[in-house]
Amino acid sequence: MHNNLIILGVETSCDETGIGIYNNKLGVLSEYVYSQTIHYKYGGTVPELASRDHIKRLMNLIIYTCKKKNLILNNINAVSYVKGPGLNGPLLIGASFSRSLGYSLRIPTIGINHLESHILISFMFNKNIKFPCLVILASGAHTMLINMKNYKTFSFMGGTLDDGVGEAFDKIARFLKLIPPNGLSIEKMSNILTKFKHIKLSKALLKSGCYNLSFSGLKTEVIRKVGKFEKYNIAYNFQNTIIKILVNKCINIITKNQIKGILLVGGVASNKELRLSFLNMADSIKLKTYTIPTKYCTDNGTMIAFLGFLKSLENKFDKNLYLHIKLNKKNYLT
Ligand code: KG4
Ligand code: ZN
Repeated sequence: MHNNLIILGVETSCDETGIGIYNNKLGVLSEYVYSQTIHYKYGGTVPELASRDHIKRLMNLIIYTCKKKNLILNNINAVSYVKGPGLNGPLLIGASFSRSLGYSLRIPTIGINHLESHILISFMFNKNIKFPCLVILASGAHTMLINMKNYKTFSFMGGTLDDGVGEAFDKIARFLKLIPPNGLSIEKMSNILTKFKHIKLSKALLKSGCYNLSFSGLKTEVIRKVGKFEKYNIAYNFQNTIIKILVNKCINIITKNQIKGILLVGGVASNKELRLSFLNMADSIKLKTYTIPTKYCTDNGTMIAFLGFLKSLENKFDKNLYLHIKLNKKNYLT
């Protein structure tokens, strides 16, 4: 391993083309995230279009990200990319591209688990996370509650049986015809008023005693309210119900598993009301809540570069020319 490593992270798991350049001595050197807008008119990410857009932009974005901090491709010592989970086409593009770039620059490459990178970027900001730590990983397609025993050992406690939290936010935002990006638009709508009309919504599996979650029933229930209540009230009540479900589920896990800290990660963890609710709950039981800057909650290249650096310490570089990416597999963490 280089003692002064500059690693390029390439994120192409879905509809963000994320580039991050990380150095083990200086930290983040440069970064850029391009969020694809071509999908807005279709009401959801179209995998084929996402793949084409990644391939069209990748090289330019990498050069741009280097140039804005006076770096050149030859300064890079390793390339990390996402091997899954994510959309098959975009994963194939990112992996093939990164491995080819590594080959042409004669530098090693590392395949990174997307979910693990969402979690481990937290260590860039919080060096002393207390274990066992309950991780709430809430993104578009994934919602998982994980007992992290140390930075390498994850025990899956529960997760969604149907929609991811972010997916539910996206769907409701589309039915409310809000301006994308979707999750953020619900948060903004919820902040418009200070007084809201209470809309009674159900909280599936909350009293079941299990650690699993379900959001598709809530989603359908909320969609049925569209047109019957003001958009603000729907957005606020939906967001509030999701937060209550997550917080209460976590209280249950915390009390039964001697949890010492709470870590919020994934796109939905950028939601300010969610962060505040977890902070308040954790404060009341004297637990520490760990958060990261919101720009690192949603998909980004820096989390791939940073985990690439951690993996390089264990010499986890690709060993041959095969593409070791995992397609069609949704919830896996290493
Ligand atoms: O982690 P991420 O960028 O991509 C996946 O790995 O899926 O998460 C994206 C998800 C989207 O569903 C988006 O609507 C949601 O995170 N999201 C939010 C907020 N910002 C992004 N949900 C609620 N409130 C937000 N402020
Ligand atoms: Zn993600």
